[in-house]
Amino acid sequence: MDIEKLKEKKVNCLEWKNVKPWVTQLNKCREINVADAKIDLGDTLSIGKSEDLSEDEHKVLLETAKTLIPWRKGPFNLFGLEIDSEWQSNIKYNLIRPHFNLKDKVVADIGCNNGYYMFKMLEDKPKKMIGFDPAPLTMLQFEFINHFYKSDIEYEMLGIEHLEAYNHKFDFIFMLGVLYHRADPVGTLKSLARGLNKDGEILIDTFMIDGEEDVCLTPRDRYSKIPNIYFIPTIPALKNWLNRAGFTDIEVLSTTVTSSEEQRKTSWSFDQSLEDFLDPNDSSKTIEGYPAPKRVYVKAKKLK
Ligand SMILES: C[S@@+](CC[C@H](N)C(=O)[O-])C[C@H]1O[C@@H](n2cnc3c(N)ncnc32)[C@H](O)[C@@H]1O
Repeated sequence: MDIEKLKEKKVNCLEWKNVKPWVTQLNKCREINVADAKIDLGDTLSIGKSEDLSEDEHKVLLETAKTLIPWRKGPFNLFGLEIDSEWQSNIKYNLIRPHFNLKDKVVADIGCNNGYYMFKMLEDKPKKMIGFDPAPLTMLQFEFINHFYKSDIEYEMLGIEHLEAYNHKFDFIFMLGVLYHRADPVGTLKSLARGLNKDGEILIDTFMIDGEEDVCLTPRDRYSKIPNIYFIPTIPALKNWLNRAGFTDIEVLSTTVTSSEEQRKTSWSFDQSLEDFLDPNDSSKTIEGYPAPKRVYVKAKKLK
């Protein structure tokens, strides 16, 4: 696989009919220049103050943020503009925060979406931070934020399937909320292992079902109205996948049931969210009758 050719092809998608208007609007925003906007890495990732921008610049900022809807991950505050994303991603970030130290490490976030976690992870001063996500909209959201944040994070419009062929390996890889989207979960975990340096580590989260047996749920069609969910394991089954993919020292960090505090409708996202995905008479079930979304967070090391 020639990664450089692939990257070129991906960049071409910015010319697509549905993507071009986003790029055109973002280019207007790129003309706003604010030197040294103050950054606050709190739960809401905030950049700058309202008075840093002129009235006209505020209009361009708002128009750009709206053009890039839906905002699924966040929240952000740009120069006083609150982007209240569907997910309160700070909840996931605060949960994983005690479990990594990225100082001087080469780090990847696979399925990084608009980069919310990566921006926050810069607080550890990693040597290099690279996000992988094939979706053009989330890449443009990243570019929008990063125009003001001015980080040196690299964003590749590539997927987990390209990691093995990438031009270098990583010391630490995050892959949050991606494994259940993969039709070949063990193959995906093997790709993570091959993408790691010696002594490399991963931190992942995925949907899980309760149980002591080595089994997994395979939704007939949609799960919680999501079309591309393939396998939802018990924790023992997930551990088997990790072992078979070449991981050791598997540590279950936490399990959480998704709450309507973490995922909800906002004017910055879609018109449906968690409350529409659950059985209206029994919130312990999805609308399809499966167990409601529960996640497991796991850390593991590459087998020597
Ligand atoms: C459920 S979201 C999770 C986002 C974020 N990592 C989190 O946990 O909040 C899944 C993300 O995976 C991205 N994605 C889709 N296909 C992918 C692939 N083949 N490789 C990596 N990421 C992918 C989507 O664009 C989306 O941003």
